[in-house]
Amino acid sequence: MEKMWSGRFSEASSELLEKFNASINFDKELYLEDINGSKAHVKMLAKQKIITEDECLKITNALNQILQEIIDGKFIFDIKDEDIHMSIEKKLSQIVGSDIGGKLHTARSRNDQVALDFRLYFLKSTKNIAHELLNLITTLKDISSNNLQTIMPGYTHLQHAQPVSLAFHLMAYSFMFMRDFQRLESSFKRNNLSPLGSCALAGTPHNTDRDFVAQELGFEGITPNAMDGVSDRDFALELLFNISVIFTHTSRLCEEIIMWSTSEFGFIKISDKFSTGSSIMPQKKNPDVAELIRGKTGRVYGNLIALLTTMKALPLAYNKDMQEDKEGVFDSVNTALSSLVILNQMLKESSFNKENMKKASMTGHLTATDLADFLVREKNIPFRQAHFITGKIVAKAEELSKDISELSSDDIKNINENIDDEALKVLDLISSMQARKSKGGTSTQSVKEQIDILENWIKNINF
Ligand code: ARG
Repeated sequence: MEKMWSGRFSEASSELLEKFNASINFDKELYLEDINGSKAHVKMLAKQKIITEDECLKITNALNQILQEIIDGKFIFDIKDEDIHMSIEKKLSQIVGSDIGGKLHTARSRNDQVALDFRLYFLKSTKNIAHELLNLITTLKDISSNNLQTIMPGYTHLQHAQPVSLAFHLMAYSFMFMRDFQRLESSFKRNNLSPLGSCALAGTPHNTDRDFVAQELGFEGITPNAMDGVSDRDFALELLFNISVIFTHTSRLCEEIIMWSTSEFGFIKISDKFSTGSSIMPQKKNPDVAELIRGKTGRVYGNLIALLTTMKALPLAYNKDMQEDKEGVFDSVNTALSSLVILNQMLKESSFNKENMKKASMTGHLTATDLADFLVREKNIPFRQAHFITGKIVAKAEELSKDISELSSDDIKNINENIDDEALKVLDLISSMQARKSKGGTSTQSVKEQIDILENWIKNINF
């Protein structure tokens, strides 16, 4: 069988080359983008009188027929056709005859064709991931709204630090995911440009209308330089980076979910629907979903580094190296979508154990800083001295095997004249949490404001 590009060749391709060179096994994912791109292209060719209206109609109908065959699973993807672009073009010529089919590729090259298809895929995927992120953000916000007073230990160095609310802790994640969403949004806007019409690398002598094609496909505009248009894969790198940051965040959340579901913590009960059992230990319930998402971070980072490395030092313009750009992006996109969907659902169906969170907050003397601050603020004691007096109270609590939040008036009598019932109040966990009412703090009021900020942002999303 003759290849579309075999005119100057006298020998047939080696089978080894055919297998090695082909991308059809993975770039068939781009069939819809390829067909839509071709339909817009022939429409432009007809408008510019480069082909006739009748030819345009025949090609468009045949492309629609091919699309249906692919959707119905009847289309045969053959490695001999090398890639999705030639595969569809060959079929087109079989349907309408090569005299007409052969005109589709006028004023176009596979270089700008693949750049177009991949960009369209990028735009679609960026939106899909943003949509799933928003679902996750909404779930975290809803759990937060219901847990404004749920006390838990806030940690630094994974050591108990200060009491916070569960709402406060989860809202931290909401804002991380909000930024992730915004990164996707700005990347979408920056890269919403059509490269079609760049042709092989230098543009075309045909009287084309690139803006028309861009408009047909819903782009904001066209890429300004043809050589850049066929060589640029920044958009794919941005998506891989954006997904990587999402996974940095989901991996942190999942790590906490995994810890919180241990018997040592016991903060969260993951629903049976999202837990797995052990083949040998009948009592076990494992947080596989959270572990898998944490683990998938590896492949997502790997895909980013792989494409960065492929693109590094590539001379302009198109080089076949760039065929290596797709699989990692497909993989990261699919990984992100499936992970976000299941993480969201798992969180929705999990329950938090408020009792255990409170109990944990009562070890480690979390309110010690509150007492020192109180002595400075209300009793005008220099901070160093306040620190020392508080140390004495901690020692007393230890002696009584209590947490300082549990000390009674009797317990603290005679330690220091500044330690009175008023001081005792600041040792209470809830009052400690509520005292942190600075903007961005953990008090109920502050967290409510944070929820407002998030809700306002959601209301104004236009993406
Ligand atoms: N399959 C190729 C790719 O994905 C399409 C572009 C081929 N262009 C070329 N000049 N060989 O990169």
